[in-house]
Amino acid sequence: MGCQRCALADTRTNVVFGKGPRDAGVMFIGEGPGENEDLQGEPFVGRGGQLLDEMLSLVGLSREKNFYITNIVKCRPPKNRDPLNTEQDACIGYLWEQMELIRPKVVVCLGRIAAMRLIKPDYRITREHGQWVEKDGAFYTAIYHPAALLRDPTKKPDTFADLRSIRAKIREVCPEVYE
Ligand code: URA
Repeated sequence: MGCQRCALADTRTNVVFGKGPRDAGVMFIGEGPGENEDLQGEPFVGRGGQLLDEMLSLVGLSREKNFYITNIVKCRPPKNRDPLNTEQDACIGYLWEQMELIRPKVVVCLGRIAAMRLIKPDYRITREHGQWVEKDGAFYTAIYHPAALLRDPTKKPDTFADLRSIRAKIREVCPEVYE
């Protein structure tokens, strides 16, 4: 709460740091807190977050038990605009430290902003969602952001296919997540 590394500090209610068990093998990473998250201090607690939790429970994942969830920036961008590169740069050190502590084997980016930051700068979510990239011993993929699924439910079947692929990857590289 003392962080003043960027101007988002001036407008936030809460810092939304992250949630999940310390030994989670899987990490989900969104772009930045929205209004509900800013008010409650927890990631993905709005309508999109509820949809995400429902979908993830179908492949045996819950934030209480086996995944960690956080964002690229920890404070809400005003009116939910995309976080600026300067804000991402100021904040990303917190994510690197979270990843160093949790050491996830599987990293899932939620939407293009996280994928552009963590997979590659020219990531194309429509074309590349669900594909796997190995980096420093962990496997990275991206799925549509839950807000995009709320706006356009015709994207849901693609996301369910991606979730089955995530379940298969977890069984392959960190089966203990499901034990
Ligand atoms: N959208 C995000 O990207 N992250 C949240 O925590 C909530 C909504």
